[in-house]
Amino acid sequence: MGSPMTSPPKTFHVKSFGCQMNVYDGERMAELMTADGLTATDDASAADLVVLNTCHIREKATEKVYSDIGRLRKDAMKARGAAPMIAVAGCVAQAEGAEIVRRAKVDVVVGPQAYHNLPGLVAKAAGGTAALDTDMPLLSKFGHLPARRKVGPSAFLTVQEGCDKFCTYCVVPYTRGAEISRPFDGIVAEARGLVEAGAREITLLGQNVNAWNDDQDRGLHGLIRALDRIPGLARIRYMTSHPNDMTQGLIDAHGDVESLMPFLHLPVQSGSDRVLKAMNRAHTADGYLRLLDRVRAVRPDIALSGDFIVGFPGETEAEFAETLRLVDAVGYAQAFSFKYSPRPGTPAADMTDQIAPEVMDERLQRLQAALNRDQQAFNAATVGRTCTVLLERKGKLPGQLLGKSPWLNSVHVIGPHAIGDLVEVDIVAAGPNAVTGEVRARVAA
Ligand code: SAH
Ligand code: SF4
Ligand code: F3S
Repeated sequence: MGSPMTSPPKTFHVKSFGCQMNVYDGERMAELMTADGLTATDDASAADLVVLNTCHIREKATEKVYSDIGRLRKDAMKARGAAPMIAVAGCVAQAEGAEIVRRAKVDVVVGPQAYHNLPGLVAKAAGGTAALDTDMPLLSKFGHLPARRKVGPSAFLTVQEGCDKFCTYCVVPYTRGAEISRPFDGIVAEARGLVEAGAREITLLGQNVNAWNDDQDRGLHGLIRALDRIPGLARIRYMTSHPNDMTQGLIDAHGDVESLMPFLHLPVQSGSDRVLKAMNRAHTADGYLRLLDRVRAVRPDIALSGDFIVGFPGETEAEFAETLRLVDAVGYAQAFSFKYSPRPGTPAADMTDQIAPEVMDERLQRLQAALNRDQQAFNAATVGRTCTVLLERKGKLPGQLLGKSPWLNSVHVIGPHAIGDLVEVDIVAAGPNAVTGEVRARVAA
């Protein structure tokens, strides 16, 4: 590529889209660039280097990258009279590769398994040659990243990446590669580092986090039990799980590991067995419900969350109604729902009976109405309970702080407390998206 030679960037800005794993990767890239001598800036239009950490999961997410690149250049021209160096990272980088350089003339393209090479790629691009690395070496990036610096009270930690499930609608197995678990010792060391850097809660991340395992067959529950022993780590969460990897050991951990929070994000996608089969989910609606019964048997107050797709090819009104019935049966505390988006290279994109957009719109509205109703009901049901809240950031009102309950609903409190405090709270009122709490006491570290 013939980009003109530019001086090496001194400041950078990372913008992450998509899932929590991208948030984690974005933090790690920022730490890497900082260790390389660059300074982070919050203002994208002022940065010499902008890293767009992209998501490929739905068409909208992918197209957004190209419009963002255009807008970034315009804003930077206005703000500083020069376009920034642009690096495209994340799942669009992996899926589209050199096509992004052709279409948008960006300087660097780096995949999710190769971003430890970002400093070298940026140096190459500063020399005038567009730089591309979409190799998928298994987990080698973790050995090349600097130690964790200061982090917030709630931190992410990737323990597992990739997916072998090949749901027929999904790009993740292609953009993130095969299912692979990080070794136990490296995870425990990183968790200790996070706690030393200020974290009191760690969310273990993986595309199929409950498939995590090691050569001693410890399973995710074994890892959770080990992390539970780290002094100063008050809360452990994990996401996203697949129903077929929900072992009895992990279910049991919800019954007796105190730091493991009573929350489970377990996507089901559809309530119709015909659709689930066409999606290659390898479980039935009833199997999913029975699994939830087993989890509730050990942890009756567990808050449940899910993901749904409406308008999968061939989905009939009757099949969609089965999804609504499943939602009614579960009573989710929160959930994500999406219109099916055909992704290039996935089997479902070639299915003939694609659903009309207006049908999808209408189904999504009905599903979201049901999910919102259940979320409100869940929030209302927490009123009168006493629970811990980890204060994570300032609220809009003076003296107001925002945090999360064990069930992951947002809690507003007013009081003389600080970000990072774990407080005991009486929940006194509920709104659609959050609840209000009154602080009783600060919980000792
Ligand atoms: N590994 C996780 C989540 C992966 S992606 C799991 O299996 O549950 C997050 C969510 O995006 C999925 O659960 C699904 O609901 C949604 N999704 C994935 N591909 C999609 C597509 N092609 N169209 C619409 N939604 C999709
Ligand atoms: Fe995608 Fe299915 Fe894998 Fe989840 S389990 S990442 S939806 S292929
Ligand atoms: Fe998106 Fe990649 Fe995550 S496609 S949802 S950023 S794994």
